[in-house]
Amino acid sequence: MNILVVNGPNLNRLGKREPEIYGKSSYRDLVRTLKVHGREKGVKIIVKQSNHEGRLIDWIQRYSDRISGLVINPGALTHYSYALYDCLKGAGVPAYEVHLSNIKEREAFRKLSVVEPACVGQIYGKGIQGYIEAIDSLLERKSQK
Ligand code: DQA
Repeated sequence: MNILVVNGPNLNRLGKREPEIYGKSSYRDLVRTLKVHGREKGVKIIVKQSNHEGRLIDWIQRYSDRISGLVINPGALTHYSYALYDCLKGAGVPAYEVHLSNIKEREAFRKLSVVEPACVGQIYGKGIQGYIEAIDSLLERKSQK
């Protein structure tokens, strides 16, 4: 079984970028943590990051036939990308939306996620642990079917 984890703009700068908000762990730490977790659960975790909206869409389209679920942190695209919303809607696999920070308690523009209606769940404010919980929730859904 495969799960795709897609990260949007600026997430490659984890650990360096506003660590008081996003945490001190690096992007490499995030990837390693998710892969180790996948191995423990017997699922392959494919992790991608791009600063470009179209690249994220290309990956989701390309992998959608080969994955059981997808976890996405779209970065700032969360708040305005209807192209990502359409892509997730059309992917035909359950998607979980994750944010490291608490988007509900920051600037007003972060409160709205335009991709949320295309996702089966949303987790925010839990740092890297949020990704783990999203993966586990996808596995749980799968095992119930
Ligand atoms: C983020 C929250 C977004 O508002 C922001 O633009 C990001 C990261 C998060 O993980 O908390 O780039 O998605």
